[in-house]
Amino acid sequence: MEHLQTQGISLPRLGLGTFRMQGEVCRAAVECALGLGYRHIDTAEMYGNEDAIGAAIAASGITRGDLHVTTKVWNENLAPEAIRRAFDASLKKLRLNHVDLYLVHWPARSMNLPAIFETLLRLKQEGRARAIGVANFNIALLKTVVEEIRAPIACNQVEYHVMLDQTPLRKYLAAKSIPLVAYCPLAQGRAASDPTLASIGRKHGASAAQVALKWLLDQEGVAAIPKASRSESQKANLDCLKLRLDDADRRAIAALPKDKRCVNPGFAPAWD
Ligand SMILES: NC(=O)c1ccc[n+]([C@@H]2O[C@H](COP(=O)([O-])OP(=O)(O)OC[C@H]3O[C@@H](n4cnc5c(N)ncnc54)[C@H](OP(=O)(O)O)[C@@H]3O)[C@@H](O)[C@H]2O)c1
Repeated sequence: MEHLQTQGISLPRLGLGTFRMQGEVCRAAVECALGLGYRHIDTAEMYGNEDAIGAAIAASGITRGDLHVTTKVWNENLAPEAIRRAFDASLKKLRLNHVDLYLVHWPARSMNLPAIFETLLRLKQEGRARAIGVANFNIALLKTVVEEIRAPIACNQVEYHVMLDQTPLRKYLAAKSIPLVAYCPLAQGRAASDPTLASIGRKHGASAAQVALKWLLDQEGVAAIPKASRSESQKANLDCLKLRLDDADRRAIAALPKDKRCVNPGFAPAWD
């Protein structure tokens, strides 16, 4: 598995998303994924599944240093004391002494960015979050964080897939050497039934979903966190790494509609 080096952490480029999985279903899915070789698990306090993920990690016996765990603070908890409380609760549920990446999950209408990043930086300095970052930040917000506050963010986690253009955001992140972690990398499953992707897949003995994931992972500085509850899908998604897309495939994917956003952080300043 390839990794992205960012702000002192080594981020496996393919991780397991866990949104909308909870309890026993989530525990079993994460245990299965760890068994298949996944070493990057994406969760959030808002998903209500950190306890299930903690149980799966504890049962796996995997050396902590070989595992990357991302969690996120929800946007109702962005005041300094609330961040600390949320962080402590997340660690406890995950049964961990530290997380590898702690993200601001979603911008809030009125948020004090300098105070937020001062708090996150403290968690990093204390060694309890190995790196910090953001999710759903547009270019305007990123500029404040990166150029004014100068926070050492290790990624921006945003929606990105074959049906959504993110060129301006990608260019900004690339210029600052900040990885883009693609969420909804399968357009919430829609990519798996797209006829263009299916036809590209047939050519290579692969599935449409594998084509969609490999297209993302062929891009420099991009990681992806597909969610899959079924072991066959988890394995298929890992196996996308073996696929070799050619120029004709990339042209066909470039011609797909690029305005199919699944998640809209609507209250945030305009997406650019
Ligand atoms: N930061 C944020 O605000 C934010 C927002 C949204 C998501 N996320 C993160 O990103 C992760 C991924 O996004 P997502 O879960 O919304 O959507 P997604 O990963 O694009 O799609 C998940 C769907 O695709 C299906 N699937 C997975 N692999 C497949 C395969 N090989 N063939 C066919 N179908 C397949 C899954 O089915 P099964 O589950 O039935 O296997 C599920 O229905 C989330 O779980 C979460 O961790 C973050």
